[in-house]
Amino acid sequence: MTSPATRFIHALFAACLLLSLTAQAQTAKLPNVVILATGGTIAGTGASSTTTVGYTAATVGVQTLITAVPELAKVANVTGEQVFQIASENMGNGEWLTLAKRVNVLLAQPNVDGIVITHGTDTMEETAYFLDLVVKSRKPVVLVGSMRPSTALSADGPINLYNAVILAGSVDAVGKGVLVAMNDQIHSARDVTKTNTSTPDTFKTPELGMLGYFQGSHAFFYHQPIRKHTLDTEFDITNLTTLPQVDIAYGYANMGPVVVEALTAAGAQGIIHAGVGDGSLAAKVIPALKAARAKGIIIVRASRVGQGILARNGEANDDALDFVAADTLNAQKARILLMLALTKTRDTREIQRMFYTY
Ligand code: SIN
Repeated sequence: MTSPATRFIHALFAACLLLSLTAQAQTAKLPNVVILATGGTIAGTGASSTTTVGYTAATVGVQTLITAVPELAKVANVTGEQVFQIASENMGNGEWLTLAKRVNVLLAQPNVDGIVITHGTDTMEETAYFLDLVVKSRKPVVLVGSMRPSTALSADGPINLYNAVILAGSVDAVGKGVLVAMNDQIHSARDVTKTNTSTPDTFKTPELGMLGYFQGSHAFFYHQPIRKHTLDTEFDITNLTTLPQVDIAYGYANMGPVVVEALTAAGAQGIIHAGVGDGSLAAKVIPALKAARAKGIIIVRASRVGQGILARNGEANDDALDFVAADTLNAQKARILLMLALTKTRDTREIQRMFYTY
């Protein structure tokens, strides 16, 4: 015969056990998201809470970023890795290969549902597009950063990180390629670009359109990318330790041959000509571009305008010059696609096909 006190203790114990099992079941149901930290302003610190320029990027570690947003634990089982601690102007081909290989290894693990990469905003669109072309998984990969350092009034890093983790754990993000989560918006890696030097709404996908929004701890999609990405590309970086040298020559009034000649002499395997308007070539630069092509260098015509289709055989006879048209890619993204294309072929018709595919 048990006493009322003993029965009460047993009931209390059973209730605690039930609560603990329920909590464990809820945690087990949450997606497993790995945060790979690379630095940038999201990990930056300023001298005071009003320092929003002139701060130091890439000083705060990944665990501090995670701890600063306890709400993450309600939406995902989050773990963190510090891959680099750099400002994103120092992101290079070697870092991209290291990062992409780590992403591919992690996403191959059944217990990883998605990845968030914290990154400086200056070259975020480039890293995102590189990963979009070489990640071999349909699981979500989300890049996120901030425009204000972690110490600033109204820092945008914590909410951006929270949204990014939600997106990386969302089944709706599966198969949509690499994504960028900034300022309550979802963008595709191929088409997003940084448009403002300093405001939090700097990331836009002008004309082609963003994919969706965050609201009330949910990611809502309204569009999806059409161009091939991730598992559907022909690029494999598994055994690569370097990427071919591709540089950009920026077009302007009074442009002469100097930059193209310098890039040719420096050993570029590809040159992106970011021409004025629809990629027009100044008369004084054409001989230098022809000479570069004659040496085997691949020339891609892009535009400095930032929007619109670069018309093949429009402002230049690409067939006759044996040049490639960048389609809608801006110069910095055309550089990435050309680097990867050059790991497969030097045939300009094949490279043009890739520019119309990715
Ligand atoms: C960077 O790109 O690393 C610095 C600027 C930023 O993150 O906004």
